[in-house]
Amino acid sequence: MTIKKAVIPAAGFGTRFLPASKAVPKELLPIVDKPTIQYIAEEAIDTGITQVILVTGREKGSIEDHFDISFELEHHLRSKGKDDLLKLVQGISEMVQIVSVRQKMPLGLGHAILCAKQIVGNHPFAVLLADDIVDADPPCLRQMIDVYNELGKGIVLAIKEVPRDEVYQYGIIDGEAVGDRLFRVASLVEKPPVEKAPSNLAVIGRYLLPPEIFEVLEELPPGKGGEIQLTDAIARLGESFPIYGYKFEGERYDAGDKMGFFVANVRFGLKHPELGPRISDFLLEVAEELKRSS
Ligand code: UTP
Repeated sequence: MTIKKAVIPAAGFGTRFLPASKAVPKELLPIVDKPTIQYIAEEAIDTGITQVILVTGREKGSIEDHFDISFELEHHLRSKGKDDLLKLVQGISEMVQIVSVRQKMPLGLGHAILCAKQIVGNHPFAVLLADDIVDADPPCLRQMIDVYNELGKGIVLAIKEVPRDEVYQYGIIDGEAVGDRLFRVASLVEKPPVEKAPSNLAVIGRYLLPPEIFEVLEELPPGKGGEIQLTDAIARLGESFPIYGYKFEGERYDAGDKMGFFVANVRFGLKHPELGPRISDFLLEVAEELKRSS
């Protein structure tokens, strides 16, 4: 059975992005002119996902609003004859069926996924982290679902090589190559210190999971940082399901991190059809200035 539902957890505090994320959800901060979470929703839609389940929390209602109809704004744009903007705004609310569920307290990524249990039901599903952008064609999630459809079952994780001194920031796999870009995962560990990391292959924010993950999450005690960790649940489920890591093709940006967010803005800015040439000229000017002053 192929995967048609995707969960996008977006209920975290976003502490790495303070003070910007104090009153504005970090998932709504724009990469050039589009909120981060819209890139993620578009990836799901371009992959063929038919239902997106947003997990939001307190002070995060504006994320739901972003994907909803905005009657006053649409009326205003219509009356001013701003048809292009009207189409743009309407397109967002017509993108896909969006359902949202609240995580009352941000008790961890695993707990956020558990909040979507009733809506996901008894089907395999995808998880896309709301602050992890992958620029890829075909979309990263499409690449993973193609692999999943060939395998026919199991857990598929998006993986990527990271510098060894950054392994402590990720879930890290211990795996063996079993195909083109494909690894069979023997074990995985959340945010290990460098000396305990089994590899430098990090899990990034895309997962294909069976519904049995919910039973594991229900029983799981808090792990690293006192949070209910999705990585721990996957490791447990690995006792009864094969786990695969897929080294996707594409460029990944951690938009929940200040530097990752900045880099994503530059890269997507350069590709922007209207702004790209101006941003390029501006960056060349800045590079010249920096060269002269160094
Ligand atoms: P992160 O660890 O990047 O998000 O989780 P965070 O906890 O908001 O950020 P920092 O570390 O404090 O800066 C990845 C995704 O999972 C969601 C976040 O909103 C983010 O999109 N998340 C995390 C939840 O929905 N609930 C949680 O309890 C934790």
